[in-house]
Formats: sequence, structure tokens, C-alpha cells
Amino acid sequence: MFREGYSELMKKFDVVFPPEGRESFTYEEVMDMIPEAEVLQSMYNFPVDKNLMDKGVNLKIVSNYAAGFDNIDVAYATEKGIQVTNTPDPVTEPTADIAMGLMLDVMRRVSDCNRRLRIPGEISWKLLDNLGYSLWGKTLGIIGMGRIGQALARRAVASGMNIVYYNRTRLAEDIEHRLNARLVSLDELITSSDVISLNAPHTSHTHHVINERTINMMKPTAVLINTARGPLVDELALARALKEKRIWGAGLDVFEFGHKVSEELLELDNVIITPHIGTQTHDVRNEMAAFVSRNIINFFEDKEISKVNHL
Ligand code: GLV
Repeated sequence: MFREGYSELMKKFDVVFPPEGRESFTYEEVMDMIPEAEVLQSMYNFPVDKNLMDKGVNLKIVSNYAAGFDNIDVAYATEKGIQVTNTPDPVTEPTADIAMGLMLDVMRRVSDCNRRLRIPGEISWKLLDNLGYSLWGKTLGIIGMGRIGQALARRAVASGMNIVYYNRTRLAEDIEHRLNARLVSLDELITSSDVISLNAPHTSHTHHVINERTINMMKPTAVLINTARGPLVDELALARALKEKRIWGAGLDVFEFGHKVSEELLELDNVIITPHIGTQTHDVRNEMAAFVSRNIINFFEDKEISKVNHL
């Protein structure tokens, strides 16, 4: 991690970073250190489980370096009186950028053309050989209309798309109006969208929301974008549908099995894959570190924090 974003925190706390050249501690290393710690800063893929919290006898706050917090047993943290915080603000716009970028890429076949143009004899320059789909006039279905979903909708509206969304709660009327967005049932969203974007957290309700059944309801020209969490999609069912061309394409920044992309996906040309880079910009890495730091400092000073659990 860049140290710059942690400068405030380092002034006030005794911060232990992973050794030079390493990005993170292993679970075992954290288990060894946790009895001493009052604060843990965790990454989106680091399991903050019961064992760890039981061993963290001095632990007061887990400050997650992510908007999502499905890596943390929040119910158990609450039971133990441990505050959990996250970093929604800095994550919103860059994640929406990647969702928009993947959508544009898949629909206009940018990466596909880029790859084939470099291989002698692979590309055709004929007018009908690299056809994609225009964004203008198409319907984007957003599953999970929180901050990231809305930031994506803003970008899509600027590209002339119509927005339908599926969410636990309805947006305020003025926001719906501004985003040209309409709340629909999940099934209507799946059947009527040209592009479906997942922008919801991973919970028991959203697990495999994209599965054999929902994929079979999609248009044959549908595109699926996932910048949220991998397990929202039954990845093997998706790979089968892409292989059999039952849908047009997919853009994925996250994968069901963490950092292991299914072989079945790797073989396909109609899926664009990126290694969870939704927030990976120079600016945002430091902004997230500063946000994490502020959550920690403010927690001990009894000021406002981005709470995940209410104690
Ligand atoms: C990234 O995946 C995040 O949840 O912030």
C-alpha cells in the first residue's frame, strides 16, 4: 500500500504494515498479532471470522478497506461489540467507470479487436466482420441501485440508454426522473434488458442471482457486467451460456472463486475479464487509505464514521 494515504493515522497510532514488498499479512500472521491490536484494517478478501475476533481480545474496530464487507462476520462483530466500518465514498465513481468501460468494451468489441489485430491473419477489416451493438437506445438493467448503481446510471444515461433497476427500496422520484430509471421486478429486468449490470452486495439473497434460470430468460443479445462480487453469478452456468452463444457477452471484474478465474471462461472470446480493478487508480488507493484512517481516528474521537454495524 502507498503510505501517503495513511499519514494522518501514522501520526496518531502505532501502525504495523506488512513487510517491504508484501501487500498483506497472511491469516496466520494476523492471528499471531491480533491479541495486541485495537484496530484491524482488512481488505475485501481477508476473512474476519469468529476465530480471529475471539483471539482479538483488545479489538475495538475493524476498518474494512472496501465498500463491500462480505469478508467480515458482521453479526459476530456486533455480538462482541466490535465496530465495523467501510469505505463507500471513494469507491463509487471508479467502480462505475469500470462497469461502464466493460459494457462499452463488450458491446463494441474493443478488447476482442485489440487482441485479434495483433495476431497476423486473425483480423478482418471488412465492414460487417467486427459488428457489435450500439449503446444508444438500449436498456440497461441495474441490479442494486445504491451509490455505484446510480453512478453507472448517470454514465449510461449520458450514452443514451434507458434504465430499469431492481432494488430493495425505490429511489426518490426526483432521482428516478434524473436517471430516467424505472423500478421493475427481477424477472422483468432480466427479460427486458440489453445489458444487465450487477451492483449489489453479496448476501444470501443475491447469491447466484444470475443462474441457469435467469440466464435462460435473457435476450440472446444480452450482455452481463459484474463489478460487484463474483458469487452473485453461477460462473459455470454463465460460461456454458457464453460458449453456446445463448447470450452475447460478459464483462467481469470479479469471479465466483476469488482470484481463480474458471478455465471455462478463459477459453472464451465473448467475455472480457479484469482482475478486480474497480478501485484500482492512483488517486483512489490513497483516498481509500485516508478514508479508512479517518474512520479509525474518528471512532476513537467519537466523531462521524462510515458504520456497517450499529452497536
Ligand atoms: C471493492 O471491491 C470494494 O468493495 O470496495
